[in-house]
Amino acid sequence: MSRTAEPSPIPVYRPYLGPEIQDAARSAIQAGWLGMGSLSQQFEQRLEEFLELDGRRVVSTNSCTEALHLAGQLIGLGPGDEVICPSFTYVAGHQAMSRTGASVVFCDIEPETLSIDPAAVEALVTDRTRAIMAVDFLGLPCRMDELMEIADKHGLRVIEDAAHAFGSRSNGRPIGSFGDITCFSFGPVKTITTLEGGAVVTADPNDVQVLHELRHLGIDSDTDARYRNQRNWEFDVVRQGFRCHLGSVPAAIGLAQMDLVDEFIANRQQYCRAYDEAFRNVDGIELFETDWDGIAPYIYVIRVASDVRDDLMAHLKSLGIATGIHFLGAHNFSFYAASRRGDLSVTDRVTKEVLTLPLHPYMSDDTIGRVTKGVQSFFSGRTAGRGRYGGASRKAAEPADALN
Ligand SMILES: Cc1ncc(COP(=O)(O)O)c(C=O)c1O
Repeated sequence: MSRTAEPSPIPVYRPYLGPEIQDAARSAIQAGWLGMGSLSQQFEQRLEEFLELDGRRVVSTNSCTEALHLAGQLIGLGPGDEVICPSFTYVAGHQAMSRTGASVVFCDIEPETLSIDPAAVEALVTDRTRAIMAVDFLGLPCRMDELMEIADKHGLRVIEDAAHAFGSRSNGRPIGSFGDITCFSFGPVKTITTLEGGAVVTADPNDVQVLHELRHLGIDSDTDARYRNQRNWEFDVVRQGFRCHLGSVPAAIGLAQMDLVDEFIANRQQYCRAYDEAFRNVDGIELFETDWDGIAPYIYVIRVASDVRDDLMAHLKSLGIATGIHFLGAHNFSFYAASRRGDLSVTDRVTKEVLTLPLHPYMSDDTIGRVTKGVQSFFSGRTAGRGRYGGASRKAAEPADALN
């Protein structure tokens, strides 16, 4: 099953960078056109096909953080505006929004999917609200239809941070093919990687020109030439822009990864099902309610009692199994201490319970077995029913090996 020897300790993430990927990178380097070029355009077209976009367009970027920032710029966010965001997400999203000058407003999540709670969103809307930022946690779709209804009612935009959800579907529709603006990540450990990379999907084809200008220094007429591996020496600068395009080598890597994406996703689903099967009857572990059909899982997360999590992490570490924590809760960061917020009780609870186990595009039965047995052995020695998820208080251990 595994395509390369597996390292020990078992890491949380492990991108696939096998011979096909390295060959693609080498060819792109040998071709000699390193900046944004024809490969960048081919990668965008490949994403448009894969996401089954019907008129929607993809604009690639050098990260999802930059994609989210471009989305914020596109909808004109600025000082005085508020964006309602889950606190329970990676700080990349909050930073992308606050970089526009807008204020982040922290909103709670719903316990089932750990995505932003539409009812809590509506309670936070004010005259200053301009947008909602939603996150598809670990690849599970957020409640986009309800969020779009709230957005329509209050005249808001919705930026979907689908960094975790490339390849996931909601009611049969690929994420990115519906909603308002969607952003993906192709960072080092994501479902597909371009080493670093991202993309914005927009429903309005007229946005594409603006996004091209925002992506490349506000220049009005450069993209078409670069997509032919040429440069346009005469141009105008028509707005404040940034410099966050996807170069040719990352795009070539992304194209090679796209050849394998169906296999990556099928494998990840299979490993998540194997984990679920092994943990379903373990007293002390809460699982997400999904059979993983239509979901492209980016990470595998369990929930355990807050007072056992550190011990479980230490136990797994002693067995050579790395773990992670997604996420900490951004409302606790010093930079956002003054940010407006609603009730965050689900967030406050969940941030202490979530634990990320290893999930890679290729894992051997042996690796899956080591992780499942490692987790099971921790709980088998404990008395069930002590506290939430059967936990009991034990001494604190070292923090996670791998955060985001
Ligand atoms: C939910 C979420 N949004 C955004 C990002 C940022 O993605 P990138 O590293 O491509 O900027 C991440 C990164 O892991 C993430 O987890």
